[in-house]
Amino acid sequence: MPDMTLTIRPYEDADEAVVADLWHTCNLVVPWNDPVSDIRAKLDVQREMFLVGTVDERVVASAMAGYDGHRGWVYYLAVHPDWSGRGFGQRLMERVETLLRAAGCPKINLQVRESNVDVIAFYERLGYTRDRVVSYGKRLDGR
Ligand SMILES: CC(C)(COP(=O)(O)OP(=O)(O)OC[C@H]1O[C@@H](n2cnc3c(N)ncnc32)[C@H](O)[C@@H]1OP(=O)(O)O)[C@@H](O)C(=O)NCCC(=O)NCCS
Repeated sequence: MPDMTLTIRPYEDADEAVVADLWHTCNLVVPWNDPVSDIRAKLDVQREMFLVGTVDERVVASAMAGYDGHRGWVYYLAVHPDWSGRGFGQRLMERVETLLRAAGCPKINLQVRESNVDVIAFYERLGYTRDRVVSYGKRLDGR
């Protein structure tokens, strides 16, 4: 019988295509971010904090984390819809928290679109609270 449990491990180079597909499937790909470029850029910076979740050795989930010396950030949390609702997202976030805590990180920040009420409910269930800040950004790559 196949093993349906989640295994969490660091991203490996052979995961590239399946992770990019996963992000498309989970609607995480926006026109201004190319998933393959984002994956390759991450491999130069704390690649050990880029995680995938597998079931029976197939990649079904991901999380990309990092610690900048002050705060930890999480991007590209994704669980394939065929595998949602089984605690996989929570398990990945707990692993991210363990890694960041071990690195000395005191707080995790993350950004969710205000319209993404499902994901807001998910993070609130995991104990995340809304900060009273407005998020600003400025592109440095001319895009
Ligand atoms: C958000 C996402 C990662 C959740 O993964 P998941 O594996 O389905 O979630 P889990 O099964 O681990 O849920 C953990 C807890 O959150 C709750 N939860 C999850 N989705 C929820 C929702 N839409 N509404 C309310 N609670 C929710 C679960 O009920 C569970 O709580 P419980 O233990 O009390 O039952 C997944 O739905 C996803 O990949 N979404 C699309 C990509 C995305 O938007 N990512 C976030 C980018 S910021």
